[in-house]
Amino acid sequence: MMRLDKFLCETGFGTRSQVKALLKKGLVTVNQETVKQPEQKIDEDRDQVECAGKEAVYAPFVYLMLHKPAGVVSATQDRKEQTVLDLIEEPSWKQLFPVGRLDKDTEGLLLLTNDGELAHQLLSPRKHVDKIYYAKVAGRVTAEHAAKFLEGLDIGEKRCTLPADLVIQKSGEESEVEITIREGKYHQIKRMFESIGCQVTYLKRLRMGTLVLDDTLFAGQYRPLTKEEVYKLKTQAAGERTGALDEQP
Ligand code: URA
Repeated sequence: MMRLDKFLCETGFGTRSQVKALLKKGLVTVNQETVKQPEQKIDEDRDQVECAGKEAVYAPFVYLMLHKPAGVVSATQDRKEQTVLDLIEEPSWKQLFPVGRLDKDTEGLLLLTNDGELAHQLLSPRKHVDKIYYAKVAGRVTAEHAAKFLEGLDIGEKRCTLPADLVIQKSGEESEVEITIREGKYHQIKRMFESIGCQVTYLKRLRMGTLVLDDTLFAGQYRPLTKEEVYKLKTQAAGERTGALDEQP
């Protein structure tokens, strides 16, 4: 048994106050009878609850992999800018949100979910979830730079950055790299390259923990995670470390 307002919130009809307003308006029925009291107890397995004509059923959590395009912000709403959620056709009552932020001009893997616990675990600084990015950089990136990235860089924070792995794919006036970081400071990768006198001109996230960007998704497209992807994310997020690197030979 549980409170009706809690059940409506958990089945996606809004926040506690939004749900209370719906109840007050007489839009909620339990077994075809209008109920206005938020504290009314219901049997969530047996009672038939409807809100504005829609049945309230426990939807499992939603997990979407978005290939974020450049030009949209990683927020649920914004007065001026297009947000990542504006790209999603799923009904807004699912209360999806992005797990972490990519800069407006960054592309690539972004997980959208309404599973607050998983998001919390993946974002927890204690977990050091590995994130892998591909970057184009103005300036020559060298093996000496890679050694510095591994040592940790001073980007103006209290502490140096955690060791980051830099794989140089092309070194020249414009360099191309793959970089793995284990934390998520504001503009972290751009600031790391600035600290060695280079500028990131293009950034794309390829991987977060065990989750790999599906290369069949074009920028702006998304798809639900497979059961296996969800399972792997959850089991690793529940553990102490979630390392993309941990899996590599
Ligand atoms: N580092 C950045 O500088 N930007 C991002 O969007 C992600 C990591």
